[in-house]
Amino acid sequence: MLYSEDLIEEVRIRNDIVGVVSGYVHLERQGRRMVGLCPFHGEKTPSFSVDAAKQVFYCFGCQKGGNVFHFVMGIENLEFPEALRQLADRANITLPEPEDNGERELSRQKKEISALNREAARFFYASLAGPGGLAAQQYLSRRGLQEKTLRAFGLGYAPDSWDALCRHLQAKGASAALLDAAGLASSGPHGPIDRFRNRVMFPIFDIRGNIVGFGGRVMDASNPKYMNSPDTPLYNKSRELYAMNFARLSHSKRIVVVEGYMDVISLHQAGIDTAVASLGTAFTQQQAWILKKYAEEVVIAYDADSAGQNATLRCMDILEASGCSVRILQIPDGKDPDEYIRNHGDERFRNLLDHALSLLEFRLLVQKRAHPGQEVEDRVHLLNKMADVLASHGNAIEREMTMSNISGEYKVSMDALKTEVDKRLRKNGRDAPPARLSTNSLRMRPVSEGPARNRYDEAELILLCLLGNENRLFEEISLRLPLERYRGTVSRVVAEKLYERLQVRREASIAELVNDLPPDAASAVIHMAETRGTVDNADKAIQDLLRRLERIALEDEKQWILDNIRSESDGNRRRELGVDLNRVIARMSALQSANDG
Ligand code: CTP
Ligand code: MN
Repeated sequence: MLYSEDLIEEVRIRNDIVGVVSGYVHLERQGRRMVGLCPFHGEKTPSFSVDAAKQVFYCFGCQKGGNVFHFVMGIENLEFPEALRQLADRANITLPEPEDNGERELSRQKKEISALNREAARFFYASLAGPGGLAAQQYLSRRGLQEKTLRAFGLGYAPDSWDALCRHLQAKGASAALLDAAGLASSGPHGPIDRFRNRVMFPIFDIRGNIVGFGGRVMDASNPKYMNSPDTPLYNKSRELYAMNFARLSHSKRIVVVEGYMDVISLHQAGIDTAVASLGTAFTQQQAWILKKYAEEVVIAYDADSAGQNATLRCMDILEASGCSVRILQIPDGKDPDEYIRNHGDERFRNLLDHALSLLEFRLLVQKRAHPGQEVEDRVHLLNKMADVLASHGNAIEREMTMSNISGEYKVSMDALKTEVDKRLRKNGRDAPPARLSTNSLRMRPVSEGPARNRYDEAELILLCLLGNENRLFEEISLRLPLERYRGTVSRVVAEKLYERLQVRREASIAELVNDLPPDAASAVIHMAETRGTVDNADKAIQDLLRRLERIALEDEKQWILDNIRSESDGNRRRELGVDLNRVIARMSALQSANDG
């Protein structure tokens, strides 16, 4: 973070959220809230509200929420630092120059590297057209790339020489140190030598179109097949998506994620201009955030080999947890998208795209592949695995429709399937009754949407919201639920911040707390604060929540014990588990009677 928490907080406080939002949305007073038509989703009756006292906004329709920073980020499509700058200007606060912390030096270096990369890309591009580039040209046209594609992606050729690029750039004034910092050279006995030699060159653009690095491919079967720029001050592999600079401009909001350079380029040439690549590295959370921002739907189209399939599982989990809607494209003949298009043409690929699998379909397919046996017990085993998958899937309608397909395909009754799935649903606690805490009159949605949360998140977040509203509860809450006991994914991050602020400064508000949370996490917090965080009797609500959290933990423990007893062959160990089970059950019924009483 470039700026201090205090400064960020000052900018927030000096920008009244009602004033800022009014610049975009017509607000009318309704009780303690101001309401209007939500700017983040289309609607005819207002469900967007601004809470002047708490300085947060929340939409009861689309469930977006946050403080004034999140509003500006969302409505102006800005990153946090840009929103901060804009709101600082609005309040006539001068932000300190970044030079205070070496930031200026870094940004100067980035500019230099960026300019150097651009010059290098020009050099590679010219070399491809020049006499030495003939073999590379032939290679690229053998791979089916047209002239205009080469130009659009700035493809080039690194000559078969030790230092052609270095000499060229040094003649233009670049120092050896800069060549090294840009990752274009390494040091040889007589000065810097080129990192990329005799390779076809792919410039890597960041989302704004700056060239941040390069990939270079050999033109024969030698190794390594690809060589890439190292991470530099300008290039961080885990943060970039190759061709995102093009994809973000497309009319289509369906982004296709593939593995490699050639997959992206072939797809773009085929008119699918939303193809991007994670470039061989494992898909990261930062990449998911980028996709979340630009895509309405993400289609994963990794290679059909087992590495690609494993990468798919990882990628889809991260994307799903980030709140993206995800589909999986399976390439039938064991190849990658580039080869598929070369062999079967654009239309067939488009067809695959339109028939990409839902997450549920894909997870079931994975089970089918893993359990191909045809004996009765194999089938029973597979159906049980499928019931597991179904029960962990949130959408009831999709569940039901899929079950009816499975019932037809495997000739089991819908009833039997349903029984198995319901059993698991109960175990997973999805149907656990929600805490009766809300005194809110506006219409509400179930809390199953939004960023990834587990079953602890809801109760823990409500608890934290109550704490944000009534700081006096800190002592009791931190005693009963110390930081390390938080088990929710979102709530844990929030708890860390809130506890720290309450310890250091004795006071904290929800609006402050979400200052530098990513928009999704902020929405989750504000959602709880606005729908569940206001209660008549906070002390009683807290006791209820703590009991509910304990009950969830006990249910998990009970399930764990049951699972282990079943698979435990050692008699002593089974007896111990039995004792544990009794203890857990006794505690559960004690809690139950406390609830009833
Ligand atoms: N990759 C890499 N280094 C390697 C191999 C692969 O950086 N030695 C990265 C590249 O970004 C590559 C991606 O991983 O594009 C996917 O690898 P692979 O499937 O092997 O390559 P393809 O993209 O299919 O390359 P090509 O079609 O040119 O063979
Ligand atoms: Mn390939």
